[in-house]
Amino acid sequence: MHTTAQLDHRPTHPDWERSGSVLLSRHLGADRVAALATQAHQQIDTAVPYSPDEVGPHRDGSFTSPVRYGLLPAGPLLTQLAHDASLLRAVRESTGLPGLVPRGCSVAVYRYGDFHGLHTDAAEVKVTVCVALTADLPPLWWAPSLRDAAPEALAGVVADSGFWPECAHFERLEHPLTDGGVHALAGSRVPHWRTPFTGEEPGLLASITYAQASPSGS
Ligand SMILES: [Fe+2]
Repeated sequence: MHTTAQLDHRPTHPDWERSGSVLLSRHLGADRVAALATQAHQQIDTAVPYSPDEVGPHRDGSFTSPVRYGLLPAGPLLTQLAHDASLLRAVRESTGLPGLVPRGCSVAVYRYGDFHGLHTDAAEVKVTVCVALTADLPPLWWAPSLRDAAPEALAGVVADSGFWPECAHFERLEHPLTDGGVHALAGSRVPHWRTPFTGEEPGLLASITYAQASPSGS
């Protein structure tokens, strides 16, 4: 029924509109995930501690609450994955956002007690993709019911329920994604958080952010 590829931009995955989240199971092969993990482990000593503790909106349009983990710049394999044509096509199609372009990528290094409090990503990030590189990461929680909520409302949730509210009406994704799954989230619109990490060995989580190219840019 398409007259041109540009007319039909509906998400192909029903979860995207319902919950702002899509899980692409088995998208990456185990070998590729293992190679990403190996490269991150080789660089792990260069991780920069990241632990802002404020609560509130940022100028980039995000909302933040306390965070604690190490931030590792992307190695060549993760940078390659961010520009991978198959992944980009899958993320574009499942979200109905054909103009997505890679914006950045990094690896979060979680050590015992590290966490990521309730937050949203920068406004220009339309999709945040996460790939678990180790097996014992804490679950990701997200709150579709708080999509596009005002900063004051998010601050109220944090004040009432803490930095990582574990409530039945919020959704969670268990890790590990042992099948090479890729999780895409509308990170700038849907608040999300990770509970404290309890592993003894460092937990590694790769993330790739995508922005929407300007209509005239493509
Ligand atoms: Fe995030």
